[in-house]
Amino acid sequence: MNIGKVQIKDKKTIEEIEIKDLRPSSHPESDSSFYDDLQQHIDRAIKQNGIRDYNKGIYNHILKEQKNRKKVGFLEHLLILIGQVKGVIKYRLKHGKSTFNRYENYHYESLDLLKSEGLFKIQNQIFRAIKGSARLELIHSVSELCKDIDLPKVLEAGCGSGLNMYMLGCLSDNMEIHGFEYTNARLASCIVNLWHSRYKNNLFLADICNLNLEDNSYDVVFTNHVFEQLGQKNAEAALKEIWRVCKKGIVVCEPTIHGANIFEKWRMRTLEYCEDLISIAKTFPDAEIITYKEDNIRYYPNTSYHLIVKKS
Ligand SMILES: C[S@@+](CC[C@H](N)C(=O)[O-])C[C@H]1O[C@@H](n2cnc3c(N)ncnc32)[C@H](O)[C@@H]1O
Repeated sequence: MNIGKVQIKDKKTIEEIEIKDLRPSSHPESDSSFYDDLQQHIDRAIKQNGIRDYNKGIYNHILKEQKNRKKVGFLEHLLILIGQVKGVIKYRLKHGKSTFNRYENYHYESLDLLKSEGLFKIQNQIFRAIKGSARLELIHSVSELCKDIDLPKVLEAGCGSGLNMYMLGCLSDNMEIHGFEYTNARLASCIVNLWHSRYKNNLFLADICNLNLEDNSYDVVFTNHVFEQLGQKNAEAALKEIWRVCKKGIVVCEPTIHGANIFEKWRMRTLEYCEDLISIAKTFPDAEIITYKEDNIRYYPNTSYHLIVKKS
């Protein structure tokens, strides 16, 4: 286990935090110099996006704008579909089966991404809507599962650039929010985005398939579109890992073959996404499935289901 210090130079001040690296030694980034790499990514992310104190600005904007969605017409949908098919084929050819390299040198996302528009499926119709609105259901589910716990300790597995951690922090002051990422590049965005938040010290590097964390060490563990990229076999290992680590339960928002249309199924299979988590959850001896349903607002075409499982 490595512990490294990373630095942020914010105008006149320089601050340091310690980042743990809990990834297994077989990790693709393990032979590169971890400390230099992460610091370099942080410096580049700051250069690209700056360091901002987001407070609740973006969150309030999402709450205000979430209803302003525009329906996508038939012709527009058809054109989008053709573009997406091309995109999937290009992506598959470029990245092969692994999606890891997609994030290796990814551009650095800022929280402004939450305000941008995306495509969503709502009751079988396609809409353009603000991206943050699709995350509201997830953060409400996490907060609901925590509601009887004093100062719940929550973990986001594969937290990306910290978009959900930011949203959850705006929804509730009464939570200890932790998150981990697999790649230095993604964690760098997350560190920069959450620099002014109270949980910047709760970030680390880890592999969801092989978590070097104690059993029952977090009250609730959640994910959003992380299992999809692991393929079915690794996704099974990952679900078992977050189940082992959680004390109360998990909220998993991931694509599934259930309820998917022909195009969604084709996309999932071409990208070798994982297809089915519910059957694995059902094998957990002490599990109570609380929810398994379509997300209210589903990313399109990467549509997802909400799976909430509690330890009974
Ligand atoms: C589609 S992004 C979603 C990010 C974030 N959950 C969100 O909702 O914005 C998938 C993320 O999963 C991360 N990931 C992929 N494999 C992982 C692994 N084995 N362990 C942890 N994170 C992983 C990727 O680095 C990437 O940031």
